[in-house]
Amino acid sequence: MKKAKDQLGTASSKREQQQKAYLLKIEANKKLDLFQRYIGSALIASAVFGIYLLATDKSLWLLAVSHAYGLIAISAIDIVLGATNLLSLTRKIILPTYGWAALTILLQLGDLVTAPQYNMTVQYFATYLFSLWAFDGILVMQVAIMVVGLSARRYQKILVRKKQLTYFDMGFKKSRRDFLQISGAIGILIGLGGVLAASEAFSNGRQSNNTNTATQTSSLPGGAIANINDLQVDSPITFNYPNSSSPNVLVKKSDGSLVALSLLCTHICCELNYSSSDIYCPCHGSIFDPTNGSVIRGPAAVALPSIKLNVDSSGNIFPVSVNGSSPCISG
Ligand code: FES
Repeated sequence: MKKAKDQLGTASSKREQQQKAYLLKIEANKKLDLFQRYIGSALIASAVFGIYLLATDKSLWLLAVSHAYGLIAISAIDIVLGATNLLSLTRKIILPTYGWAALTILLQLGDLVTAPQYNMTVQYFATYLFSLWAFDGILVMQVAIMVVGLSARRYQKILVRKKQLTYFDMGFKKSRRDFLQISGAIGILIGLGGVLAASEAFSNGRQSNNTNTATQTSSLPGGAIANINDLQVDSPITFNYPNSSSPNVLVKKSDGSLVALSLLCTHICCELNYSSSDIYCPCHGSIFDPTNGSVIRGPAAVALPSIKLNVDSSGNIFPVSVNGSSPCISG
């Protein structure tokens, strides 16, 4: 009789344990659904920030096109991972998503070390990048994913333990209605990004209208950039100084004086378009005075450096030094 009672007790406590485990598993699944929605939302937000940057920051396309392609890839992967997590299509995606978030953070911060490639110091480039709210937004979203990921780990462990499965075997779920809703929302966001990009491309017209026109005609001694007798009034020529990646413009004025200015924008070093009425930056729209390089319109805050010139007795013009400072001219 006692033995039968004991057996009954053991069976009921086993049932209780099974029930508890079952409830725990349901709870863990619910939590992971919720976490995946957070993660998915953060990834979609990160993609939207990326698309916004691609559509609005022309310096990405004019100065660092490889960064633009990289950002397209990052945004596309964000969208795919974001949609998969939002729909809780599979738990298998959680771990790769954390890895992706960490990689994205590294890639975004890795941009900073490419600053010397664009003639800028890392510090100057960092100041510019962190001033872009969309760039910060991408980083914040990816860090948030890592934080949510750490909180979700214990629920993942519950599922793994209870079902004796690996992280990559934690079930598969889908909902057609959710899929359609979220795909529609993502489609709208991508469409908006496309419209923004198209409008930016149209407003880019001014960039191609301003081209340098003058040419040099006489043979010059080493180091000379032109002969003053060959220069036409208000007909600009370009030359590189003090290194091959620092373009400048030289103009002869109607009174015979010479003006030589750097053609690298003092904002973040995009190459400027010269015209006799202004010097225009195609990246973020700064405008400089072509007579002295002063800023007419920002975001650039510093005047263009001028190039000090020396003219020899034969009229040959030599650049001597750079007057003024720029984050874009070194050496
Ligand atoms: S690079 Fe930004 S305004 Fe010129």
